[in-house]
Amino acid sequence: MKPSAPLYHALCAHLQKQRVSLHTPGHKHAHPIFPQDLSALDLTELPDTDSLFEAEGAILAAERETAQVLGVARTLFSAGGCTLCIQAMLRLASMGGKRNVIAGRVLHRSAVHTMALLGLTPVWVMPRADAGPGLPGRVHPQDVRQALLEHPDAACVYVTSPDYFGVLADIAGIAKACQEYHVPLLVDNAHGAHLFFTSQPHPITQGAAMTACSAHKTLPVLTGGAWLNLAGDLFLPAAKDAMALFGSTSPSYPVMASLDLCTGWLHQYATTAYPRLEGQVRQILERAVQLGFGIPQGPCDPTRISLYTPPIGLTGEQTAQYLRQSGIEPEYADASYVVMIPTPCNSPQDFERLEDALQNLPRHPALPETSCVLPPLPPTVLSVREAVLHPGVELPIAQAVGKTAACAACPCPPGVPVVMPGEKITPSAAEFLLAYGFSRVKVLQ
Ligand SMILES: Cc1ncc(COP(=O)(O)O)c(C=O)c1O
Repeated sequence: MKPSAPLYHALCAHLQKQRVSLHTPGHKHAHPIFPQDLSALDLTELPDTDSLFEAEGAILAAERETAQVLGVARTLFSAGGCTLCIQAMLRLASMGGKRNVIAGRVLHRSAVHTMALLGLTPVWVMPRADAGPGLPGRVHPQDVRQALLEHPDAACVYVTSPDYFGVLADIAGIAKACQEYHVPLLVDNAHGAHLFFTSQPHPITQGAAMTACSAHKTLPVLTGGAWLNLAGDLFLPAAKDAMALFGSTSPSYPVMASLDLCTGWLHQYATTAYPRLEGQVRQILERAVQLGFGIPQGPCDPTRISLYTPPIGLTGEQTAQYLRQSGIEPEYADASYVVMIPTPCNSPQDFERLEDALQNLPRHPALPETSCVLPPLPPTVLSVREAVLHPGVELPIAQAVGKTAACAACPCPPGVPVVMPGEKITPSAAEFLLAYGFSRVKVLQ
């Protein structure tokens, strides 16, 4: 067999379609801050190039400059995505031996997997469905405070904000509750690296002790580039070791260089680029609402475009398909939402094409409003660690009732896991999963 480079050709074929990129990465492919030949920068740890997890030269200097531009105590680079920063945050918070993590139930699988690897126990706080139909909603300070009252010995509180749809939690309120109990607040801010420069604040300025920020999702940074931001010195001494525990010993220098170059771009352009982007997004959202779409309610990332599609008679997936036919590639779609991630690297023409495409979508009678009343939290029968590391098998839902979940089952909508690893699949959880399109679920063998 002669290898045909199928992935390479798939990537080239996709690029030839010249779709407007409204998905990650944030650089949108032609950003002038990147040198032409990035492979020339693909070096390794040399006396001249420093070493990510033992940084004392150029990498340390780059991280310090970034911290200064962002206005935080310390920034650590990751070439392993936000996942590596999440792993490091949870490691740092649990090094003292505390095992309970008060966690918003809407969280990325990297956090669940890290809890498994570190042997941590989640204490779940459910979001309140306050952002509108089809959305998980927000974790509220009073619910976090209640969890802290019941678990004052928690290693940390862990929340995701913004979520995938751009919905922002009341981080200042949650941070206040955490401060009362002297428990650090960790924020998965994967989708909000740019919030340092927008009209809505970044979680670290609202009292988070640490944030994990996927710079590559919303900024001109190569995929894999992320920041672990620290609000103070408490976690600094062990931070590099915590990242090294999970990270590759061969972090990509082009990715780290793109983080470094992004800092210069932010310093020079962010204060003009983000107000302009917010204006462009506001215009799209206003137009979308006139056309009949819904948008998330309450505080949201002002640069995210999340459209609730049932009022125009289309599912989110159908809308995404029509947008692709109009030359626009969105980030994500589910039964009732389509999500797009514009950045300052999109051109004014990109927004015009999006507005035209939205205007030209076919319209049908409205679909029924998405309503999701979640079943009660299933009982936990095994630790997350045991459930994730134990061999699992996929079963049809009907056969899985009474068994223990080996991974999270998260229907979208509402984007809240119905079962987590180690929880028992109850008849009501199974019924809900079936109703929301799940046919199989992974359980312990
Ligand atoms: C909420 C959230 N957290 C964390 C991550 C992981 O980020 P990364 O892909 O940069 O590792 C993602 C990725 O999509 C995410 O959506």
